[in-house]
Amino acid sequence: MLRDSFGRVATDLRVSLTDKCNLRCTYCMPPEGLDWLPNAQLLTADEIVRLVTIGVERLGITEVRYTGGEPLIRRELVDIVARTAALTPRPQISLTTNGIGLARLAEPLAAAGLDRVNVSLDTLDPDTFKRLAYRDRHADVIAGLAAADEAGLRPVKVNAVLMRDLNDHEAVPLLRWCLDQGYELRFIEQMPLDAQHGWTREGMVTADEILDRLSSAFDLTVDDIEERGSAPAERFLVDGGPARVGVIGSVTRPFCGSCDRVRLTADGQVRNCLFATEESDLKTRMRAGASDEELAERWVAAVARKRAGHGIDDPSFLQPARPMSAIGG
Ligand code: GTP
Ligand code: 5AD
Ligand code: SF4
Repeated sequence: MLRDSFGRVATDLRVSLTDKCNLRCTYCMPPEGLDWLPNAQLLTADEIVRLVTIGVERLGITEVRYTGGEPLIRRELVDIVARTAALTPRPQISLTTNGIGLARLAEPLAAAGLDRVNVSLDTLDPDTFKRLAYRDRHADVIAGLAAADEAGLRPVKVNAVLMRDLNDHEAVPLLRWCLDQGYELRFIEQMPLDAQHGWTREGMVTADEILDRLSSAFDLTVDDIEERGSAPAERFLVDGGPARVGVIGSVTRPFCGSCDRVRLTADGQVRNCLFATEESDLKTRMRAGASDEELAERWVAAVARKRAGHGIDDPSFLQPARPMSAIGG
């Protein structure tokens, strides 16, 4: 079991399959991209499956989420999902993606055993999309969402990060559109994880602001039907339900006390927190011939060292050296 010194147990493994991405969302990376990890540093599909297997079979992982960078650009994704679905006990398998390529891959992924997807979409306007993400791919994302729904990868969740004076006027239209399509929208507070280190607290659109904006058009009530558990999103019933909207207030409403996550980076490092300042290198040990048992022990030790929370409000807070795209969302 992956238990930390505060008694939290990690059961949700988030695996980054690549640090590369085909978009350049401003809250994540600069337009010119980043220095990508060299291919030799990336875990191979076999190495990924081996570590996921150790997590599931020995360490109590019950949910596996594949992320990036952009996980759909990893050629072996369908195979990795199929091999994950063959594990016993079978974990829940999900994907966090920007949606580009999902129009083609939703069906094969569902057939391989993928259970559901979360897709990022920050705007309904193709021009704004181009300004936010530096690529003209809005239509691909919309098509990807539709294909995911069609393939039964439900509930289809949509993640939106609002940024001041860029897309913060879209809170209400985004929710209206998602309600219409039957997608579950979640608004996310921007976190200090961008490669450019441009995050400021004043620039961040807070959970309170988001809820204020939504309340001008909808009647929101706290969803007490389903338990929140360790979910990052606070959920609200819209106009009495059953439709819902979520708000992920990582910064102003942290949920670290109930965190059940652990991460594996694309280059095989265990991170016990998005904001961790240290990592535990499983890849090097694995390539040096370590047994499953030794890898499991290292992993247990890495989670045991998890800190109480992200500490963004501490005067000594330092943004992690790796940006979000290299950690896994
Ligand atoms: P569901 O299980 O579908 O609710 O997924 P999720 O919301 O946990 O995952 P997703 O990948 O869609 O992430 C949504 C947002 O939550 C992103 O901005 C993530 O970075 C953020 N997030 C996910 N896990 C954590 C976490 O452990 N800590 C913090 N602070 N934020 C997280
Ligand atoms: N703050 C909050 N959310 C972010 N995401 C990417 N970068 C940030 C950030 N700095 C979101 C993406 C995606 C999910 C993995 O995390 O929009 O939906
Ligand atoms: Fe967990 Fe760290 Fe995220 Fe807090 S910031 S919820 S401790 S991973």
